[in-house]
Amino acid sequence: MQWSSFVAFALFAPSHALIRFGCSQLVVDRLDPLVNPGEAPSPHLHQIIGGNSFNISMFPENHDPAKLSTCTTCQPADDFSNYWTATLFFRARNGTFKRVPQKGNTFFEGSNGGMTVYYMNNQLADTAQPANVTAFKPGFRMIVGNPMSSKKADVDRYPQLTYTCLQNMGTRYPETKNLPKKACPSGIMVNVRFPTCWDGVNLDSPDHNSHMAYPISGNFESQGPCPATHPVRMPQLMYEVIFETKAFNNPDDWPTDGTQPFVWSFGDGTGYGNHGDYIFGWKDDSLQKIMDEHCFVNCKTMRTQTMDQMNACAVSRKVNENVDDWRPELPGGPQLRLKATDGTV
Ligand SMILES: *[C@@H]1O[C@H](CO)[C@@H](O)[C@H](O)[C@H]1NC(C)=O
Ligand SMILES: *[C@@H]1O[C@H](CO)[C@@H](O)[C@H](O)[C@H]1NC(C)=O
Ligand SMILES: *[C@@H]1O[C@H](CO)[C@@H](O)[C@H](O)[C@H]1NC(C)=O
Repeated sequence: MQWSSFVAFALFAPSHALIRFGCSQLVVDRLDPLVNPGEAPSPHLHQIIGGNSFNISMFPENHDPAKLSTCTTCQPADDFSNYWTATLFFRARNGTFKRVPQKGNTFFEGSNGGMTVYYMNNQLADTAQPANVTAFKPGFRMIVGNPMSSKKADVDRYPQLTYTCLQNMGTRYPETKNLPKKACPSGIMVNVRFPTCWDGVNLDSPDHNSHMAYPISGNFESQGPCPATHPVRMPQLMYEVIFETKAFNNPDDWPTDGTQPFVWSFGDGTGYGNHGDYIFGWKDDSLQKIMDEHCFVNCKTMRTQTMDQMNACAVSRKVNENVDDWRPELPGGPQLRLKATDGTV
């Protein structure tokens, strides 16, 4: 079964083990404690969700989000992890930029922006022999994708970084590697799936990626085996970020050369630079307990909080710049890369 049709199906198939929850926006800020610790501003703008200990630097030696946070924007009350991606901008015909807002997914309509997070355990209808996963540990962090990707072959190294052009809120396919070429009536959904095989030793790596790998055949969903170098099967972490493009879908505002007008905050207009960041911060062994329950969305072991509590958790921006008005350039002024270097977009 294709992944995309599975998700549409999964929403109605409680025999599969996964959790899916909404998280409101914590902050939109030009910080990146993983790639640019100590830098305020970092080179490009991010949108961040999760625990309120998110900070300019978050070194594992002295920063455990589960211990330092006092609230979280996520539905599970024990999840103080931080999850973030770049933000999307609309580029008008006159060359100025406006940040595209985010909205909550189906079932999470009341959330203040933010995104939807999944931790998946078992994707097959194999209830006789449920597959187990080892939850991430304190200090664990990772990145998937590369903002400098400039052609389809670059993003193909990360098999499951895609976009869905939402015709309505239930649209789940097709998924594309490039930003959608036509206006999407219900918005653009960005799908960020992380690799699932861990080396079993390192909580991080210099590129924040090589301590993780993909199954050697098949994929996580088909329970493909992990390579010998990365033998530990972890939950599949996935983000869905929905950018509400409705204010920008008028064809008269789109470029006249047939290209599409959306640009990531790091200057990429192809979409191949799609990437996401993660710092683990679940309290104690709460995530492992949930994964071991092999439950579907509503898990007895998962403590939850209300939407009002999620929306009430926020931090103020540390970099003082206006990211919401029309702007002559993207925050930080990254170079625009609107065409793929190999002509694939
Ligand atoms: C963020 O880091 C600064 C020092 O870099 C510290 O003073 C402050 O308390 C930290 N905030 C949180 C919420 O951890
Ligand atoms: C550029 O175009 C946008 C969208 O049409 C408009 O709102 C904005 O005021 C324009 N800015 C300038 C400087 O002309
Ligand atoms: C998963 O763990 C459960 C309980 O610990 C065990 O009964 C089951 O055999 C495990 N499944 C696999 C595929 O190892």
